[in-house]
Amino acid sequence: MSLRLPDTGAEVLSDGRRMVPSAARNAAPILQVLQEEAPARGVMLEIASGSGLHAALFAAALPGLDWQPTDADPGTFASIRAWAATSTGRIAAPRPLDATSPGWAADWPGCAAVLLVNLLHLIPQAAAAVVLHEISRALAPQGVAFLYGPFLRDGQATSPGDAAFDASLRAQDSTIGYKDLGWVTAQLQAAGLSMQPREMPANNLMLVCRK
Ligand SMILES: C[S@@+](CC[C@H](N)C(=O)[O-])C[C@H]1O[C@@H](n2cnc3c(N)ncnc32)[C@H](O)[C@@H]1O
Repeated sequence: MSLRLPDTGAEVLSDGRRMVPSAARNAAPILQVLQEEAPARGVMLEIASGSGLHAALFAAALPGLDWQPTDADPGTFASIRAWAATSTGRIAAPRPLDATSPGWAADWPGCAAVLLVNLLHLIPQAAAAVVLHEISRALAPQGVAFLYGPFLRDGQATSPGDAAFDASLRAQDSTIGYKDLGWVTAQLQAAGLSMQPREMPANNLMLVCRK
């Protein structure tokens, strides 16, 4: 099903780039974490790239990384390509990847890093478990995964706005919604990853996960 999200209907520029307000807003704080914690070299597998805005900005600012944008929806690829064309970063052509499909990591071995922004709250919990376990399998030894988004803490939303957004997601599909930080932490641990949460603007978290 296609969800109604705050960014649904984002503007498309004449060169094909989708302008997604939330991605533009969170780009700087996410980049700061990547600059502090990402490896200097290797493949950065970006899951759920969406518009491609993040790929363009982040790959340019992290020039040692080979950026691999992916998304489950090939309809995103025109915008990802258009954004990549504006970037000085090393960005490969976008490839299809359904991160909830068990076993996908076998096709993506040895990634130095993985970035996932704003997907876990949009998929069912069992699917999120697959995503987290496959990310661990895709990482090279000492690889780092960056998981950004909104989370429940001890089962509670962190603001009225988050509670309302979570409720709107669950109203559209009762199987989706914010995941609890404790549950995510347990999944990561079971997948062999240590995790350090970093507070981000607007009550979001960046989970920095090391293999
Ligand atoms: C809210 S957008 C986030 C896009 C981008 N990361 C950002 O922050 O702007 C969610 C994206 O996840 C993609 N997506 C949905 N289900 C997916 C899945 N199972 N595997 C990979 N990507 C998926 C959608 O096509 C969409 O591009």
